[in-house]
Amino acid sequence: MANTILVGAQWGDEGKGKIIDVLTERADIVVRYAGGNNAGHTVWVGKQKYVLHLIPSGILRKSKLCVIGNGVVVDPVGLVSEINGLLKIGVKIGKNLVVSETAHVVLPYHRELDAQREVLKGKNKIGTTKRGIGPAYGDKAARVGLRMGDLVDAARFEEKLSRRIKENNEVLQALGAKPLSFKKVLAEYRAAGDFLKPFVANTVVLLHNAMRRGEDILFEGAQGTFLDIDHGTYPYVTSSNTTAGGACTGSGVPPHRMDRVVGVMKAYTTRVGEGPLPTENAEISDLLHGMGREFGATTGRARRCGWFDSVATRHATMVNGIDDLAVTNLDGLDTVETIKVCIAYRHGKKRYDFVPNDAEVLAECQPVYAEFEGWLTPTDKARRWKQLPPKARTYLKAIAELTGAKLAIASVGPGRDQTIFV
Ligand code: IMP
Repeated sequence: MANTILVGAQWGDEGKGKIIDVLTERADIVVRYAGGNNAGHTVWVGKQKYVLHLIPSGILRKSKLCVIGNGVVVDPVGLVSEINGLLKIGVKIGKNLVVSETAHVVLPYHRELDAQREVLKGKNKIGTTKRGIGPAYGDKAARVGLRMGDLVDAARFEEKLSRRIKENNEVLQALGAKPLSFKKVLAEYRAAGDFLKPFVANTVVLLHNAMRRGEDILFEGAQGTFLDIDHGTYPYVTSSNTTAGGACTGSGVPPHRMDRVVGVMKAYTTRVGEGPLPTENAEISDLLHGMGREFGATTGRARRCGWFDSVATRHATMVNGIDDLAVTNLDGLDTVETIKVCIAYRHGKKRYDFVPNDAEVLAECQPVYAEFEGWLTPTDKARRWKQLPPKARTYLKAIAELTGAKLAIASVGPGRDQTIFV
């Protein structure tokens, strides 16, 4: 398979978990390179549903090594509970999971600050997952973060935590929040540190040794292109580089060792949280929610839904260098008579065929639509390209062409077998 980066080409929740799970079959190692437990990857294996937040979905396949890279921010208590949850349902976790010693740690004051800042922002809030992601990356950039290597060293962790908690408690109190108990946080995090110690290692050296042996790596993106801190709809973004470049910085594998970028996108568009979504549409939102679809895996929030936005996915192809496309949730459109696809934006007299950087301008953009006839036939039983209704094939080919990358996979349901290789 060679080294493959998998990214979300929209606003997250593109169905990456399932595609990663399918592609993992051909990889030796799966690396998560950005984000934290704000992500929620849902994977169905038979009748068993798994929701993964920090652990790469590769964990569900035997003999695959899963790496949480240096670009990730790790909530250790959350990670322990995720590991225990998986162990309880029979997933084997041991030497097949490695966590980077330089990944930064999410602490309770990060979560508290995340919540407080959202309150302060009032109607301009971002709609974060309140997992402390922004403040944790903030500390990393300010060079005051604690890393996994610190967490597993008892004396060092205690000393660093005591200093950091003091400063953060002052900030929390100034914001009107309760200070945190150093003793309580220390006890909880030390327990998590002891549990996680056997998993923590130098993942950069590990990955380079694996590449020397000729092993193939799949880089698992979290969130999506338009939630990227640099390339997304700032400030309505997450705090990491979710795009393909993040796979290099977030793992220590250099750009020239990357062979292919797969972009995952839904056959329509969704977004959770605040911020512009040009093709947002009540009709398609009601339809998908009515089908019980499009509720967040991490927070349970109803996702905002809209028509497919090819201006956005074309932009994503450019920023990530997407070679191959995986289109998911095609079956979500099975009952739609006329399907709209956004081909440009209008802002006053100006026409955009790329995504403007100013979120306020983007929020005012009006989509220009092309229309496609719906296929009005269930697609969830299709297993081969030829088994898809002709109008569905026309639609898929059109959105891939507008996006500017090769259609490689169409997904018609959550099951592993509901995957059509084109
Ligand atoms: P944060 O990452 O919790 O700081 O949230 C920032 C923004 O990213 C919010 O709009 C969240 O809803 C969104 N977000 C974070 N993680 C995900 C995800 O896994 N899927 C979709 N949206 C996400």
